[in-house]
Amino acid sequence: MSKMIQFFDTTLRDGEQTIGVNFSVAQKVAIAKQLERWGVDCIEAGFPIASTADFEAVQEVSKAVKHTTVTGLARAQRGDIDACVSATQAARHRQVHVFIATSPIHREAKLHMTKAQVLATIDEMVRYARQFFEVVEFSPEDATRTEADFLATAIQTAIDAGATVINIPDTVGYTNPVEFGQLFDFIQQHVASFNEVTFSVHCHDDLGLAVANSLAAIAHGATRIEGTINGIGERAGNAALEEVAAALHVRHDYYQVDDHIQLSETWATSQLISQAAEMPIPHNKAVIGANAFAHESGIHQDGMLKNPQTYEILTPASVGAPKTTLPLGKLSGSHAVMQKLQQLGYQIDAQQMSAVFAQFKRIAEQVDIVCDADLKAMMANFETGVA
Ligand code: KIV
Ligand code: ZN
Repeated sequence: MSKMIQFFDTTLRDGEQTIGVNFSVAQKVAIAKQLERWGVDCIEAGFPIASTADFEAVQEVSKAVKHTTVTGLARAQRGDIDACVSATQAARHRQVHVFIATSPIHREAKLHMTKAQVLATIDEMVRYARQFFEVVEFSPEDATRTEADFLATAIQTAIDAGATVINIPDTVGYTNPVEFGQLFDFIQQHVASFNEVTFSVHCHDDLGLAVANSLAAIAHGATRIEGTINGIGERAGNAALEEVAAALHVRHDYYQVDDHIQLSETWATSQLISQAAEMPIPHNKAVIGANAFAHESGIHQDGMLKNPQTYEILTPASVGAPKTTLPLGKLSGSHAVMQKLQQLGYQIDAQQMSAVFAQFKRIAEQVDIVCDADLKAMMANFETGVA
């Protein structure tokens, strides 16, 4: 049996840290229900200590979802953990996500703490959290800029104190797939209890590598992936979970892992988040962009008409997206143009074809996309002998 990968969705927490995004409690509940339909294993519904709205959202999401685990985020402080305890009270399955930064820049510039103080805080706060939660996730924030040996010590300290999930955040999107894989190998070799807990990753997209880094971590032992839908999140955002899910599906031969994601719910999930966040999806966005299943060039359209697998590694139906389109533009070939005219009810014989196609090309030079109305007008001119 292949390994199971857990999906941890933080659209409602890290995703809401996107500039200009502010979900209402009702929107958060609707999104959480859709995330549950999509099949995520854990929803980070907010940061309960941060505001009453965040607290209420975590509370309402905890009541609304049926089998998905709900978590709140907590700094390594009693008050934050207490807020998570109360906010997740109604959840059927719950966990807490405790974090403290471990990198030198964060220790010195932000926390003003020594290494020993950071370790003592991890020990004390993870032990405290374990009194209330069976599942305690610990994150050494800015892990990828932390000294590797200190990172291993921080992780072992958290495990010894009772952490059951260790999340490795690439907080500032600094690492790359090769280096991140090596960091996982190092952790595996230097953390004696590596196999006793779940290893998770949380990658940011500052250099456009969040999904690639997350996939590299899977290949090196991580079994939980954190991210957001449409990749929304702080600065350049988080790993786009729909891309991770599609990659694991399309390249099952390579990753050989399974998950609980219902891929056919991907498009609906992405649309819901785009609308609630008021963030349109770029047309060329992988998996869920409007052009992800659209082909314009003649060579590609010809291939698609002969066998869609020539240019599509994923069917639109598999992710619940609208059907493939072959928009007609100046690069389109006669095969696609004739097929479209036939669909519109025109019978074009071999003799007419080159004249019709030449006229199509003249029109296509002047507009971005030749629409049905343009084609009908073109054919009307042919029929009346104007063209
Ligand atoms: O990016 C980050 O480091 C975080 C932590 C709270 C896990 O969001
Ligand atoms: Zn983050």
